[in-house]
Amino acid sequence: MSDLDVRELDPDDDAAFGAWHHVYEVAERHELGDVATTWQLEEVRAAMRDGGSHSWSGGWCGVVDGETVAAGWMRTPLLDNPELAEMTVHVLPAHRRRGHGSTVLAHLESVARERGRRVLNGLASWPYDAGSDGAGASGPGFAAARGWMLALSEVQRELHLPVPAGLLDRLARDAARAHSSYTLRSWAGPVPDDLLAGWAEVTSSLATEAPTGDLDLEPEVVSPDVVRERETTIAKQGRTKYNTVALDADGVVVAYTDLATTVHEPGRAYQWGTLVRGEHRGHRLGVAVKVANLRLLQDERPDVRRLTTYNAEVNAHMIGVNEALGFVPVARLGDFQKRLG
Ligand SMILES: CC(C)(COP(=O)(O)OP(=O)(O)OC[C@H]1O[C@@H](n2cnc3c(N)ncnc32)[C@H](O)[C@@H]1OP(=O)(O)O)[C@@H](O)C(=O)NCCC(=O)NCCS
Repeated sequence: MSDLDVRELDPDDDAAFGAWHHVYEVAERHELGDVATTWQLEEVRAAMRDGGSHSWSGGWCGVVDGETVAAGWMRTPLLDNPELAEMTVHVLPAHRRRGHGSTVLAHLESVARERGRRVLNGLASWPYDAGSDGAGASGPGFAAARGWMLALSEVQRELHLPVPAGLLDRLARDAARAHSSYTLRSWAGPVPDDLLAGWAEVTSSLATEAPTGDLDLEPEVVSPDVVRERETTIAKQGRTKYNTVALDADGVVVAYTDLATTVHEPGRAYQWGTLVRGEHRGHRLGVAVKVANLRLLQDERPDVRRLTTYNAEVNAHMIGVNEALGFVPVARLGDFQKRLG
């Protein structure tokens, strides 16, 4: 083990928080450069200060001789998945291979255990050319050495905006032929009251209805209150959501897609979820909601030039939708898992 002093992070301690975020940002950019998708400082801080009733987040600094060289981050859901803890570890490039990453990870694992968490998930990104298993990249090498298994392989893709209006029109028209009994609604910001219950229902099924590989996940709790709570955190984070849903003939929300921009990172947007409920698949609703949402984004935010998304490698249908829109692969993401005994 290394000579690292692991300290719990106080989100209100500006100096400690800045040092923590510096490690995280530099470590992510080291291998991924410009395609790294780091949370900005105030986005992490808002989540750590107040995750709401549904989740708790905390950070740890790994300090050597007064310098923060390693960073740990953990999130635990509070209303569902009672055994789950999500965690990441980052080490400044000049301080790697001295056991610091292992020391921080061991600390996070013991905190998880104290909190009754036995199912551990960790995310690591690596360059696209390193392939699905990430041979030679730091995250997969570290995960394997520490006894974590790769449970789900994802590909990060990026779309240069704007997508030509003619292409969006053609895709929307082709899809519309297959979904004539459904209606689409798009909006920016919080969910309209009349859609709140349906939105809570459809979005909470994403975690288990989208491909999850070998990840051990339970369904998320459905709660309109949590939707509102998350919106409060999103506002504090400086993020704005753009959303589209499809409603069936009875007005039930059966599909959705959402993406987010942030004031802390001008010019970029991030795709969040997209889901069509099982019994409503086959009507091209996936394309329909995505195209409508892109139109909304392009109309309201012509300044946004890059949209980033992640798809499980096995999610052929969603990848087909994304490729039709012009997304290209730029990096990979692995969801690693470990079960504590
Ligand atoms: C992954 C990371 C945290 C490792 O930090 P670290 O301080 O170098 O880790 P350790 O020194 O404790 O490494 C422990 C073991 O992991 C393995 N390992 C670490 N980095 C590796 C690499 N680049 N390639 C292959 N194996 C690696 C080795 O077996 C190593 O033991 P060794 O040095 O005796 O061979 C760091 O490289 C990093 O910040 N990467 C970017 C972020 C990331 O991917 N985080 C991991 C996912 S949460």
